Amino acid sequence: MKSVFYGAVSATALIASAAYAEPQAEVLHWWTSGGEAKSVAVLQEEFASKGGTWTDMPVAGGGGDAAMTALRARVLSGNAPTAVQLKGPAIQEWYEEGVLADISAVAEAQGWADVLPASIAGHMKCEGTWCAAPVNVHRVDWIWANADVLEANGIEMPTTWDEFNAAAAKLQAAGVIPLAHGGQAWQDATVFEAVALGILGPDGFRKAFVDLDMDTLKSDEMKAVFDQMRTMRGYVDENFSGRDWNLATAMVMNGEAAFQIMGDWAKGEFMAAGKVPGEDFLCASVPGDGFLYNVDSFAMFNVDGDDKKAGQDLLAELIVGQNFQKVFNLNKGSIPARIDVPLDEFDSCAHLSAKDMSESSDNGSLLPSYAHGMALRGAQSGAITDVVTAHFNSDMSSDEAVNMLADAVANSM
Ligand code: BGC
Repeated sequence: MKSVFYGAVSATALIASAAYAEPQAEVLHWWTSGGEAKSVAVLQEEFASKGGTWTDMPVAGGGGDAAMTALRARVLSGNAPTAVQLKGPAIQEWYEEGVLADISAVAEAQGWADVLPASIAGHMKCEGTWCAAPVNVHRVDWIWANADVLEANGIEMPTTWDEFNAAAAKLQAAGVIPLAHGGQAWQDATVFEAVALGILGPDGFRKAFVDLDMDTLKSDEMKAVFDQMRTMRGYVDENFSGRDWNLATAMVMNGEAAFQIMGDWAKGEFMAAGKVPGEDFLCASVPGDGFLYNVDSFAMFNVDGDDKKAGQDLLAELIVGQNFQKVFNLNKGSIPARIDVPLDEFDSCAHLSAKDMSESSDNGSLLPSYAHGMALRGAQSGAITDVVTAHFNSDMSSDEAVNMLADAVANSM
């Protein structure tokens, strides 16, 4: 794991007086791939155009594990960054440590409660106060494909796991890598939860990864999820270990591989490379019902200095602003968190995401991603991911895996 630290508190920030408080922000995030960097630049530009000074603190590492390690070190040393990419229950965990700033004044002045769906607003609240600002809605349960490779091999986007396996076997026989994958724990977890949603169904997924129901964790259906993971282990190339997710996306782009199972930040990579959905690449939700959401958000940490506080207020205001929500998400691959941003300029995958999200919300199958820190606290999600990775990288049987899963979850509580 690689983490990069940028700069400490600047001297100017410390001596700026209240009367001349110019917005300052040191922003910790993990958006370092091509599509991600293009997206975060939108916020940097808006911040600068309002007179703000942005100090970038990017910590490379998909899924944000390295960023969270860097954050802990900064907070423990009493020098928290001004604003941090933080999401799901981790927001409330940090709030409980007493280190988050209250951004309710901005949220109320901007009427966030009126423009955010209740399911998203709930994640942004800490004991009734607003403690984070949402950026987007990423969908996790997607399959991406190279359109030419599928066509050349007479393959349609799979609508069942059996179809997926048949397509993968055919591609493998034709010398194409069926599944582009990066062997990093969070990517294993991303594929696992997409498979789990398909095989367990939305209710089973909720029981397993939201309620942590032991019977579901040890069920035959969960064994079938591990069976499918074992099958898929046979469809990745031998160099998968440690590969970054965006390099796996590049393998689909250049036709080396056919499919990738990844959240729609992968679409940000395709778009940044000038690829066109429906022509160069295809998107489909993984076989099965439901929608796994992953909402990126920023939390502000308690800091001293009027300039930094002004920076936090300005950032919070810009993040939930209509223009930012549109332009950022056009680049990022996600859809806006606000419900009142027109989607006219968005592509067909984004439209599918918005439609499926609203239907899932109506029929109770809109579910938080466990792999992306939306469903569980860190100890529980970490325990599950450890088992998923141990299984994927060994010859562990599905029986052993479900027993280990149930034990790991029980011990984490
Ligand atoms: C974040 C995305 C990010 C992806 C890869 C996810 O957890 O929500 O914003 O692009 O990780 O780093």
